[in-house]
Amino acid sequence: MSQHYQHDVLVIGSGGAGLSLALNLPAHLRVAVLSKGPLDGGSTPRAQGGVAAVLDDGDNIESHVHDTLVAGAGLCREDAVRFTVEHSRAAIQWLIDQGVPFTPDAEHQDGERGFAFHLTREGGHSHRRIIHAADATGAAIFTTLLDHARRRPNIELLEDRVAVDLITEHKLGGPGRRCLGAYVLNRQSGEVDTYRARFVVLATGGAAKVYLYTSNPDGACGDGIAMAWRAGCRVGNLEFNQFHPTCLYHPQAKNFLITEAVRGEGGLLRLPSGERFMDRFDPRGELAPRDIVARAIDHEMKRLGIDCVYLDISHKPAEFIKAHFPTVYERCLAYGIDITHQPIPVVPAAHYTCGGVLVDSRGQTDVPGLYAIGETSFTGLHGANRLASNSLLECFVYALSAAADIAGQLQEVAMPGQLPTWDASQVTDSDEDVIIAHNWDELRRFMWDYVGIVRTSKRLQRAQHRVRLLLSEIDEFYSNYKVSRDLIELRNLALVADLMIRSAMLRRESRGLHYTLDYPGQLEKPLDTILIPPCYHPA
Ligand code: FUM
Repeated sequence: MSQHYQHDVLVIGSGGAGLSLALNLPAHLRVAVLSKGPLDGGSTPRAQGGVAAVLDDGDNIESHVHDTLVAGAGLCREDAVRFTVEHSRAAIQWLIDQGVPFTPDAEHQDGERGFAFHLTREGGHSHRRIIHAADATGAAIFTTLLDHARRRPNIELLEDRVAVDLITEHKLGGPGRRCLGAYVLNRQSGEVDTYRARFVVLATGGAAKVYLYTSNPDGACGDGIAMAWRAGCRVGNLEFNQFHPTCLYHPQAKNFLITEAVRGEGGLLRLPSGERFMDRFDPRGELAPRDIVARAIDHEMKRLGIDCVYLDISHKPAEFIKAHFPTVYERCLAYGIDITHQPIPVVPAAHYTCGGVLVDSRGQTDVPGLYAIGETSFTGLHGANRLASNSLLECFVYALSAAADIAGQLQEVAMPGQLPTWDASQVTDSDEDVIIAHNWDELRRFMWDYVGIVRTSKRLQRAQHRVRLLLSEIDEFYSNYKVSRDLIELRNLALVADLMIRSAMLRRESRGLHYTLDYPGQLEKPLDTILIPPCYHPA
């Protein structure tokens, strides 16, 4: 039997953003944190590089703002950039206070340069400003935050709960717009339960799983973006999909990133001949922003008909490599590559969704009571290309800000009344799951081929034609059969793919991560691509 639950705050997503928000809410609130699978199934535990922040006495806010704006190719919202960078030190201090084991600085004494931790460098940054825990920063942060959340009696951590859709006053036929909760598939019982809450937070990560090759875990299906759109939220800049330049190229390696910090610490990109090539594309060489490096690699792979290029750090002392990159070293060694002697075969892969659900500096969306934080959101920080390690920073800064905003509204917002139970009376068990699997493959392949690193108008039209066919098939399936995790994810991913293609078609220029052969130049005035859903109502 399906169940009804009530919480003060319902957090959908158990990564860095969701856990940080939950931990920053007042301790008397009942909070549920939902995870589609195991709690550690999201992107945060896999993040290698670190968190960008102004921490060193020699660094300054203007410089971090400037680097972010340059990488964002004219499309960052400067107020969002300033807000994020100005709150960076406080967010990092909160993580340090939680006990995150960041790598200490072996060369400087505490206080000598204002900060006791090692700072690494990544592409597009003009200073060393990435605080990290060796090359497993996300895992260190996630484990620490999860440990705290487990010890908080007011936080329920619920695994195997897949949000199907948000419940709003509007969807229930009322005159208001407020978000009241969500329908959630309990994968253990097979039932769709009803969660009502005073506040709902989407922290579901991005949608890089829309591409055949990605650095992301399987759950990165754009769930929050799709649910928010269906609930009446605007989305922005979804044409900007970041391809990480260096994912491990090996037949047995699935989704394994080689952190950008390898290039930050001196790693060089080479062709199979050993020749370096980045200087031909950008004076910053290997440390150019990601869009430039990924496009250069793609260009060289297509020009020479090669399967991969190589990232070489073997000129550095073996002890340095093992100390800075223990995860990369061990994983590559498991595949027979000793990175202290050999170059690493790498290819670009989909990594980060720069656009998302429009929010303000408190993480509030267009729908009252609904927040979006982390990769799900579009704050205006990333512009047309996210600067390395600004993503985790955005997670923490906006999680703290949204938690404070919720805490400030507790007097005004009451618990919604009883909500209708999910109606499963018209659906049956599917006997054709092969269709779901086939549609998954088809979607990811044509998105890779037609909406990838280099685009054309014709390719986008082809992709749009195919995604529309898929959407109508998925709708039919959704109306007739019981929901499953695969179906819910496919429905969300196909919708987000459609929004991405529409956004890409609207951008008649090449800027940042959106590069099209039909419009290679840049328009004089940079403009966001904002899509408005059918049920949008301005506040
Ligand atoms: O290369 C990396 O470690 C990834 C960092 C990021 O996506 O910001």
